[in-house]
Amino acid sequence: MKANLYGVIGYPIHHSMSPSMHNTAFRALGLNHHYHAFEVNPNRLGEAIKGMKALGIAGFNVTIPHKVEVMKHIDEIDEEARMIGAVNTVVRHEDRFIGYNTDGQGYLRALLNLVSSPLQQYDVLVIGAGGAARAIVTSLANHGVASLTIANRTVEKAQALAYDVSTLQPCHTMTLTEAEAALGSFHIVINTTSVGMHPHTDAVPINLAHMREGTILSDLIYNPLKTTWLQEGEQRGAVIDNGLSMFVGQGALAFEKWTGQQPNQERMSQHVIEQLGGR
Ligand code: ATR
Repeated sequence: MKANLYGVIGYPIHHSMSPSMHNTAFRALGLNHHYHAFEVNPNRLGEAIKGMKALGIAGFNVTIPHKVEVMKHIDEIDEEARMIGAVNTVVRHEDRFIGYNTDGQGYLRALLNLVSSPLQQYDVLVIGAGGAARAIVTSLANHGVASLTIANRTVEKAQALAYDVSTLQPCHTMTLTEAEAALGSFHIVINTTSVGMHPHTDAVPINLAHMREGTILSDLIYNPLKTTWLQEGEQRGAVIDNGLSMFVGQGALAFEKWTGQQPNQERMSQHVIEQLGGR
């Protein structure tokens, strides 16, 4: 069987959990492939990608700070990745590198597992308007939800993102204070900011006093696995979802694009939890 080499490029990269997650998934399916982390200095990105092509690398993930810049160095970019404005997965087709963004779709797939009715019946609030929010908002707008609202500390950034997806779905914007007051009107609330991430684990992105019981509260952070915000939400009767959904979801979708096979997401998730020391 052919043994392909896959990888992830980032700077720095030593904390990445992608290599062990993918290598575990390859082994579980009896595939002989290997996934390696490559630390690529931003000023050598073009060279690195040429080298990857020459070496026959079959596909790779792209992480911070290369997700936007990488678009200049590959041969083709999928439409949703272009709308998001970032690429996190590159697939080799013969001698061409094609860029995708599996963050939003990976997240969406995990969200679809959590809901009991079609997403078109849910009013969704996204907190944040950075790179992660762009991926999620674009995928949600592409799929269609009952209503879509973005709240961000810098409201102009929320407005810019809302404008960018407006051809797919109308999108409202709010300040964080307005979102706190209106929280009872949303069925799904997603935190895409880094507020609450290790080591600032006491911080919360918005106050949950007005949240309705049964709201789906989703936090993209997975370190810690259960943020203070999710803990508070759980106490108030929310259905909670942590950042493993998106991390594992984006990885699983990349894996499928590369191998044509579905990895065991439960196993991937369990592996990441073990790597995190069960936190
Ligand atoms: P990522 O790619 O992880 O989304 P990013 O593009 O840097 O990271 O975006 C970070 C997001 O978190 C932004 O929405 C940012 O708000 P601003 O646009 O106002 O900067 C938000 N964010 C980061 N720190 C924050 C804080 N302390 N309070 C509120 N929002 C914060």
